[in-house]
Amino acid sequence: MKLTIVILAAGMGKRMQSDLPKVLHKLAGKPMLAHVIDSATQLNPAQIAVVVGHGADTVKSAFEQQKELAFALQQPQYGTGHAVQQAEPLFVGNSDDDKTLILYGDVPLVQAATLERLIEASANGVAVLTEFLDDPTGYGRIVRDAQGNVNRIVEHKDATIEEHEIKEVNTGILCAPTNQLKKWLAKIDNNNAQGEYYLTDVIALAVKDSVTVSAAHPEASWETLGVNSRLQQVELERAWQQEQARQLLVQGVALADDKRIDIRGTLTCGRDVFIDVGCIFEGDVVLEDGVQIGPHCVLKNVKIAKDSKVEAFSHLDQAEIADQCKVGPYARLRPGAQLSKGSQVGNFVEIKNTRLGAFSKASHLSYLGDAVIGQRVNIGAGTITCNYDGANKFTTVIGDDAFIGSDTQLIAPVTVGEGATIGAGTSLRHDAPANQLTVTQSSQTTFHNWKRPIKKKH
Ligand code: UD1
Ligand code: CA
Repeated sequence: MKLTIVILAAGMGKRMQSDLPKVLHKLAGKPMLAHVIDSATQLNPAQIAVVVGHGADTVKSAFEQQKELAFALQQPQYGTGHAVQQAEPLFVGNSDDDKTLILYGDVPLVQAATLERLIEASANGVAVLTEFLDDPTGYGRIVRDAQGNVNRIVEHKDATIEEHEIKEVNTGILCAPTNQLKKWLAKIDNNNAQGEYYLTDVIALAVKDSVTVSAAHPEASWETLGVNSRLQQVELERAWQQEQARQLLVQGVALADDKRIDIRGTLTCGRDVFIDVGCIFEGDVVLEDGVQIGPHCVLKNVKIAKDSKVEAFSHLDQAEIADQCKVGPYARLRPGAQLSKGSQVGNFVEIKNTRLGAFSKASHLSYLGDAVIGQRVNIGAGTITCNYDGANKFTTVIGDDAFIGSDTQLIAPVTVGEGATIGAGTSLRHDAPANQLTVTQSSQTTFHNWKRPIKKKH
């Protein structure tokens, strides 16, 4: 069986009140259409065809890296059936068991497992993904015959008063045999309340051809929720965040509050991980066993090894943290920050492209950039690596067991030897030898007759 997947994404999305095409609006940090494409990809289709229309060029260029995608242009938009017709030249296969699955770019969270069940349900013909809603207003209704077989779909605007009572609705997602779908698409017309070519009309045509129409249902109701407005977008975002939090809790991750966590990517956790409120996880984040994350931290593409602790209000981006480290509160770890086992980074310390050796500490107010720092080093408060001359970046090397006094400027390129001590307030321009005290001395003077200026009173 060759599977073609058609994703409808030509609609305008007027109610978003935005210049950005609707399917590029994000859910959990990723464009809605990208969610659909990712689920589609999991089904190993022979073809993924995206039907674009409004903002077609913007949508296409957002996915230009994904060479496996094919695009069909629908201009103007005459309805969902017309949209699928535009993708017809991209359909793959002409054997009778080849299938076409229709998805929607603005229904981002349908899960691959649900789609697999839908495809299975279509084994003997067509399968429609349907749902039962207490308030089915606006949706197409599934009309069944006396035996309970699906007979046709009627759009809300075309339905009779009796049909309005039907609670089983069309989610829009369906799977049909490719060869027959082509035949049915050629037959649909626009004699309906909206003057559109309805994809849903293929159901009645299938029944007329004595093809079995089955229904499958989503595992969870959020899977088939569509986004037409900012309000629905934020509602679906919350539903999805809540679902991700639920999955973490089931795995044994401790969350201070399942409603105050945002995962915009993948968060992989070991055993006995604790996450406090208000944290945002972006990209790929890995937290190994026993890791604790304090409140209001942002972690982006970060790996944190066993038993390390990140305290409140820390910002970590492309950092790698070994086991038993302590970070924050108020730490900033930028790309290339590498913390070795048992090292500590305290408040208002910024680290970039720097390796901090095992059990070394930078506890307060520092900038460490382009540095290689050994083991058991103490970086005093206010230490700055002067790594940049306005054009070039230079490296600072600090040997094991060195002690850097407070308010030191390390003017790179510069090396501090093992066991060296740098006195407070030093501007280190030349290498400091191992095991010696190096300071820049300036004498201390007291001006005995000096008077502080006094403000004149009016
Ligand atoms: C459609 C279904 C309805 C179902 C509902 C579920 C039809 C006729 N009706 O109705 O039975 O209950 O979805 O949400 O299919 N699109 C295009 N080109 C077009 C028209 C639409 O690409 O010419 C895309 C839209 O961008 C959107 C999707 O198709 O992603 C659905 O279109 P929409 O107009 O929202 O369909 P509904 O009227 O809601
Ligand atoms: Ca819709």
